[in-house]
Amino acid sequence: MEYSVKSGNPEKQRTACIVLGVFEPRKLTATAEQFDKIADGFISNILRRGDLEGKLGQVLLLHHVPNALSDRVLLVGCGKERELGDTQYQSIISKAITTLNETGSMEAVCFLTELNVKGRDSQWKVKQAVQASEESLYSFNQLKTKSEPERRPLRKLIFNVPTRRELSEGEEAIKQGEAVARGVGLAKDLANLPGNICTPTYLAEQAIKLAEDNQKVTTSVLDEAELKEMGMGAFISVSQGSDEPGKLITIEYKGADADVKPIVLVGKGITFDTGGISLKPGAAMDEMKFDMGGSAAVLGTTQAVIEMDLPINLVTVVAAAENMPSAKASRPGDIVTSLSGQTIEILNTDAEGRLVLCDALTYVEKFDPDVVIDVATLTGAIIVALGHKTSGLMSNHNPLAHDLLNAGELAADKAWRLPIWEEYQEQLDSNFADMANLGTAGAGSITAACFLARYTRKYQWAHLDVAGTAWKKGKAKGGTGRPVPLLTQYIISRAANS
Ligand code: BES
Ligand code: MN
Ligand code: ZN
Repeated sequence: MEYSVKSGNPEKQRTACIVLGVFEPRKLTATAEQFDKIADGFISNILRRGDLEGKLGQVLLLHHVPNALSDRVLLVGCGKERELGDTQYQSIISKAITTLNETGSMEAVCFLTELNVKGRDSQWKVKQAVQASEESLYSFNQLKTKSEPERRPLRKLIFNVPTRRELSEGEEAIKQGEAVARGVGLAKDLANLPGNICTPTYLAEQAIKLAEDNQKVTTSVLDEAELKEMGMGAFISVSQGSDEPGKLITIEYKGADADVKPIVLVGKGITFDTGGISLKPGAAMDEMKFDMGGSAAVLGTTQAVIEMDLPINLVTVVAAAENMPSAKASRPGDIVTSLSGQTIEILNTDAEGRLVLCDALTYVEKFDPDVVIDVATLTGAIIVALGHKTSGLMSNHNPLAHDLLNAGELAADKAWRLPIWEEYQEQLDSNFADMANLGTAGAGSITAACFLARYTRKYQWAHLDVAGTAWKKGKAKGGTGRPVPLLTQYIISRAANS
């Protein structure tokens, strides 16, 4: 899709369709009202007859509107004016886009970006409109042999801003929105691909692709023999049960001077989580193909950062392995030595994420990081705590935690902080090793993060548990691309303040 911004009057748009908002009950938005006057009250007449109440998500497509230069006018219900917040705005845009796409308008000028959304400026509304549009047009068809081509799909979308002064900001918003949306798209694709295709090797190939034709980006991949040699006993203890070779993938992006400390992203990349010898129950086990959702998100974010050519240094590390039961798999009770030298008693082989992550988190010390942020579908417990709306955030550094919470708020990709106070640490005590990989009952997400905290003492660190947010269940089952918007926003803000 081609996006652009302009500033003009609705009646002057020579296009296939213009899109206008109507609040509940039957109240025209300012732009719609202005247009209605020129159309001799055509729209207000129709509303009076009861064709559109203005409820959130209602639509009405009109043809032959008097004095309009556009072929059609699409009215979109915006709900109650006072209740218009982020989520309402997103659903208004997405309803408009799907309707345009299904009703043969190949081009449209959209005035919904002029709606008043609580606390949001034009730039935010344009950026979110691009992301919401891409969100509603996304489909994963690459593994279906029969796909129906759209008859006359929407190709060109023009967002209107109130004044010409907002045009250059609007253009910047489109660039950012497209980069984030493509990052989200990559993350969704990777999460949706099954475990037999999206293997650790496949993830490595994707990372190598990101470095192609770009002087600023280099990718390197360590194989199991090298990881063993280095002493990554925790990582290997997971990967050894699988015939798919595990990989530690590193992408370095140099957008700033060499002496600027990098932001480091680490992703959990379990390409399939059976639970290992502590085998998971069968129900919905297919969904464990998305246990590399953290990796998908850091790869998507990296792609967006490269596309925006941001003036920061970024290191992205993906800990990619498959968690399988086999004769070579770790047993409950096995004790392994991590790269940090600390020993771990594996009480449950299904708590594998922290095992691959702890070695990756020790490994990244060598980059002398400014901050390290790991992203992982780490615990089912985070779904109990926060459901599927909010990612869990845990951190050893208050300013970093606040920056990430703010980025999530700004990107409409929210996180909420949980504590990792010292008093939880005793839940990881082991009689036989330095620590167990499993906490005693209660606070499962916190004890998982407390485990990781033992490997991140040398730098400022935050952990995002996205087990609830990286994947959607139900009819629209699939990857969400979260938290690419949050992470990208954090890095954009960092770049702006550098
Ligand atoms: N990948 C799972 C966590 C998960 C659960 C992600 C549901 C997405 C949806 C993780 O490896 C796991 O199995 N965690 C265990 C930890 C437990 C054994 C301490 C869990 O949450 O049950
Ligand atoms: Mn598991
Ligand atoms: Zn897992």
